[in-house]
Amino acid sequence: MSRPGIVVVGSINADLVVTLERHPRPGETVLGRSLTVLPGGKGANQAVAAARLGADVLMVGAVGSDAYADTALSALAAAGVDLGSLTRTDGGTGVAVVEVSDDGENTIVVLPGANGEMTPRIVAASAAVIGAAAVVVVQGEVPAAATEAAVRATSGRVIVNLAPVVAVDPEVLLRADPLVVNEHEGALVLAQLGAGEASGHTAVVEALLGCGFASVVMTLGAAGALVSDGGPVRAVPAPRVTPVDTTGAGDAFVGALAARLGAGDPLEDAVRFAVRVGSYAVQYAGAQPSYPSPDDVLPGEDQGADA
Ligand code: RIB
Repeated sequence: MSRPGIVVVGSINADLVVTLERHPRPGETVLGRSLTVLPGGKGANQAVAAARLGADVLMVGAVGSDAYADTALSALAAAGVDLGSLTRTDGGTGVAVVEVSDDGENTIVVLPGANGEMTPRIVAASAAVIGAAAVVVVQGEVPAAATEAAVRATSGRVIVNLAPVVAVDPEVLLRADPLVVNEHEGALVLAQLGAGEASGHTAVVEALLGCGFASVVMTLGAAGALVSDGGPVRAVPAPRVTPVDTTGAGDAFVGALAARLGAGDPLEDAVRFAVRVGSYAVQYAGAQPSYPSPDDVLPGEDQGADA
């Protein structure tokens, strides 16, 4: 097996995407417009995003033995992600029910399936490639014990995108460089570390740095991102685009960030690029189908990186 630049340890799903005019309120029934089955899962999305941008990526994850497995793996294979460390379980593949309304907003319910069967032992089987990677990326969609085993096996840089926020050994969590969270996740991580509350996005980033993270990136959707590796917190605005579907845009961001950090970019430069990749992705339907390749023109390219 070759030595990959980036190893992603995380979830692989099939996304059942329902489009609808607006989301139902609790107790309400609405009619949907279309149903599409697409490859998804935060881990797989990030791996595909990085590979499409030219990075050398290996995925550590699990799928079941049902028909959804082929869909879930289709874009990973097409993007050239190394699937040699994949586990096949006897059960079902992870499935996400994704509802996308006309304004581009989504709700997602995840049934973990095979992702829930990821164990430290499965991760340990890939310890050599994880240890050799320049960048390892983890999220919160596989059991925390598997995520912790992955981080412990690293010798390179670790990106922890704690989405969703799950309880992770603080000693492991603090190896994140960077920790990537949105505003809600950032507050939850502070609480998890017993650091109380902070008011405002910049204050949350500063408080997370105060907990001991080497670097923190906070994604802010259409407003871009905040970034600090210990110095002043810097704002990176996003180019203005018309959103069609925000599903997986944060994963596009993380995949692009990993690709650029793996290529040796400084953190703030990598964040500037990743913000534009996330903005590109919201303009198209689905998660993985919306990710750019190097031939695609990213929003903001004609306006400078700060556009
Ligand atoms: O972040 C978007 C992803 O979350 C979807 O692809 C879905 O599978 C869930 O994991």
